[in-house]
Amino acid sequence: MVRKFFVGGNFKLNPASLAASTSLIEGLNKAELDPETEVVIAPPSIYLIPVKESVRKDVKVAAQNCYFKESGAFTGEISPKQLVDAGIPYVVLGHSERRTLFHETSALVATKTRAAIDAGLKVILCIGETLQEREADKTAEVCQSQLKEVVDVLKEADWSNIVIAYEPVWAIGTGKVATTAQAQQAHADVRSYIAKAVSPAVANNIQILYGGSVTAANSKELARQQDVDGFLVGGASLKPEFADIINARK
Ligand code: G3H
Repeated sequence: MVRKFFVGGNFKLNPASLAASTSLIEGLNKAELDPETEVVIAPPSIYLIPVKESVRKDVKVAAQNCYFKESGAFTGEISPKQLVDAGIPYVVLGHSERRTLFHETSALVATKTRAAIDAGLKVILCIGETLQEREADKTAEVCQSQLKEVVDVLKEADWSNIVIAYEPVWAIGTGKVATTAQAQQAHADVRSYIAKAVSPAVANNIQILYGGSVTAANSKELARQQDVDGFLVGGASLKPEFADIINARK
């Protein structure tokens, strides 16, 4: 099977106003985008509905996080069911900023993933190692242990609703992109783990994105790697070059 190229734009806590968000979406709406690329953008939760209503129909919208409960006394949270009800098809879970700044464990990420899939969402599941872990040659081990928690709570069929984003923490927002060889190796290791832990068919079909200082300039070479099926883009998704990254395989 040929895996479809997939590019996500994670806006994080940007931009700083509804007006700026509107102008960002207007720019994306005017851009010429490769129709062969699946594009998903993840604005801050307060802009999810206006972005969904104003963005072109070939671009889908993702929440940057959600809780695992459907409703109740959970101040500040959004439920998977509410996202589905609002017409939001995707959620990003396990981003390293959630893991580090908000102390989300792999077990919590797995619980959220289970709940999101049960509600009918597709999940962009982020994993990745710190610099210290890479220097200790633990990249594959760390990625596998983050994935294992999810493997333990999903059935084989659930994996058609998962996109994995491999994002080395040391490359996020630092301008220090992984080399093509580093990215390809990490992706191949993730795919081979999924083949063993879930099934060879799931491993063959699952899209594995690279995230961490992706730019228009480095995206073309990364996109040529056999196991790199797209990108999860942070900073550059707020700039006109996001269109060039979407078109990296063109
Ligand atoms: O989710 C996106 C990643 O955190 C990458 O962010 O492209 O700004 O390095 P970045």
